[in-house]
Amino acid sequence: MPKYKIAVLPGDGVGIDVTEAAMVVLEKIGFDAEYIYGDIGWEFWCKEGDPFPERTVKLLKRTDACIFGAITSKPNKDALKELAPELKDKGLSYFSPIVRLRQEFDLYTNLRPCKAYLGNPLNYRDDLDLVILRENTEGMYAGVEFHPVPDEVKNALLLHPKMKKFESVPPDEMAISTRIMTKKACTRILKAAFEYARKYKRKSVTIVEKPNVLRETGGLILDIARKMAEEYPDIEFWETNVDAMAMWLIKNPQDYSVLVAENLFGDIISDLSAQLVGGLGFACSGNIGDDYAVFEPTHGSAPKYTGMYKVNPIAMLLATKMMMEWLGEAEEAGRLENAIAEVIREGKVRTYDMGGGSSTLDMAHAVASKL
Ligand code: IPM
Ligand code: MG
Repeated sequence: MPKYKIAVLPGDGVGIDVTEAAMVVLEKIGFDAEYIYGDIGWEFWCKEGDPFPERTVKLLKRTDACIFGAITSKPNKDALKELAPELKDKGLSYFSPIVRLRQEFDLYTNLRPCKAYLGNPLNYRDDLDLVILRENTEGMYAGVEFHPVPDEVKNALLLHPKMKKFESVPPDEMAISTRIMTKKACTRILKAAFEYARKYKRKSVTIVEKPNVLRETGGLILDIARKMAEEYPDIEFWETNVDAMAMWLIKNPQDYSVLVAENLFGDIISDLSAQLVGGLGFACSGNIGDDYAVFEPTHGSAPKYTGMYKVNPIAMLLATKMMMEWLGEAEEAGRLENAIAEVIREGKVRTYDMGGGSSTLDMAHAVASKL
């Protein structure tokens, strides 16, 4: 019996190409696992009205971890147009399956390392080693939204004096998206950030927020963070407003180490940070809960490159490395990271984003050859 059961969800577009690349490397390293493929993505939305079918939810529940490629997402109105005719007018609505997966499996930490590997021509600087911990289950992504706004919701909001100016706006002439943050979720993501910093001997944890304007939600997480920081005197605790953070990340990114943020802010600063170390071809992430985790490259499905084996699989290979680490296979994870680093350093095999002409699978085989 293999040691691990891994769910593999290639998804759409180039998600399929990079998943194949991950398999090349996993096989070469001799990772002791059984791989079970599952359905997710656009095709299942169009044909079945659910991009993340129940059978896939069940599959994940009987595996130890999951590798996820990429999926195509579209705004709800566009998504409805592509539904199979018999599914139209059934009141279905599209919700991003990856966001749903994070929430339903309570994968509350979105861990996004952004490290510069020497020899990568796309590095903004060579001395960067940032890690972002993004809250992954609530905040601006909680999904509690209204359009048109029901009277009950409007009346409830009128308890707040600032709502007064919207009182006479007709229900369909406004939309509301909420930012809901709980003490529980704030506490656990902050704890994950401080524990990460301690485990990997990081010098600082920076909370990225906007409490001067978002006084209630931003204030809540900041209070908890300040209190928690006292329990970690060995780690410097910094507070930065998200807008200023965007600026500092361009000005002096080398000063930062661990960043922790609410869902949407974490989404934004993690793309910025990823670009500093090579962009989406290098951006890996782990959606991590207490006993399950899903690893993915953060890039999308890039439909125009489908099946062309053009995109850089390094993000996916680094996500695979993160999975091994999370499963406790530190030695294999280290070997994989060294192999990736060596291929980047040599610079002989480069995908188009790196200025080269190598394919997705050329890169995978180059990494495999170092293992
Ligand atoms: C990410 C992506 C997703 C997100 C999209 C695809 C829903 O941008 O993983 O960062 O917004 O979280
Ligand atoms: Mg994103």
